[in-house]
Amino acid sequence: MNCTFERVFFDRVLLGEQEIRERVDLLAKELATYTDDDGFVLVVILKGALMFAADLSRRIPSQCSIDFLTVSSYYGGTQSTGNVHIVDGHSAEVYGKKVLVVDDIFDTGLTLQTVVKFLEQKGAQEVRTCVLLKKKKVRGVPFEVDYHAFEIEDEFVVGYGLDYQGEYRKLPYVGVMKT
Ligand code: PRP
Repeated sequence: MNCTFERVFFDRVLLGEQEIRERVDLLAKELATYTDDDGFVLVVILKGALMFAADLSRRIPSQCSIDFLTVSSYYGGTQSTGNVHIVDGHSAEVYGKKVLVVDDIFDTGLTLQTVVKFLEQKGAQEVRTCVLLKKKKVRGVPFEVDYHAFEIEDEFVVGYGLDYQGEYRKLPYVGVMKT
């Protein structure tokens, strides 16, 4: 943490650059049984998953196509509005294909539940989900993520793709915001 705005708004660094790098390396190996077949589709949930998906995809050795879904429910704030909006339905052909959905954080679970249903309706053969951060908490929705890099407490975090009002996505680490 070296900039003034980080000292003012951040409580602490939760996950440093090296810790993230090492865990993403391991996660790519854990995913191998699913991603070993060439030809799966990696679907990146924008905007928050951009950093994680870029790093993870480059550590997966098999060939895959990459596509994007723009999904929003927080609208820059600190809590889900409960209204998950797929802003831009993606053009990728997932019919009959294995899909790995990559997102930054699993909080209420509404986003991934909605996205998985959407992709299944498009005829995907199998859909699995992978997130950087999974919050340890009781969720209202009956949906579980398949793979995660880190489990975290119920705190508001930013950095490595995660934002607060559109800011902080570019930070190379994950930090906890001051309340
Ligand atoms: C955030 C985050 C996840 C989702 C997780 O998206 O990037 O996609 O919420 O929350 P949930 O499990 O409670 O549904 P946001 O709406 O903030 O959009 P963004 O990725 O563009 O920041």
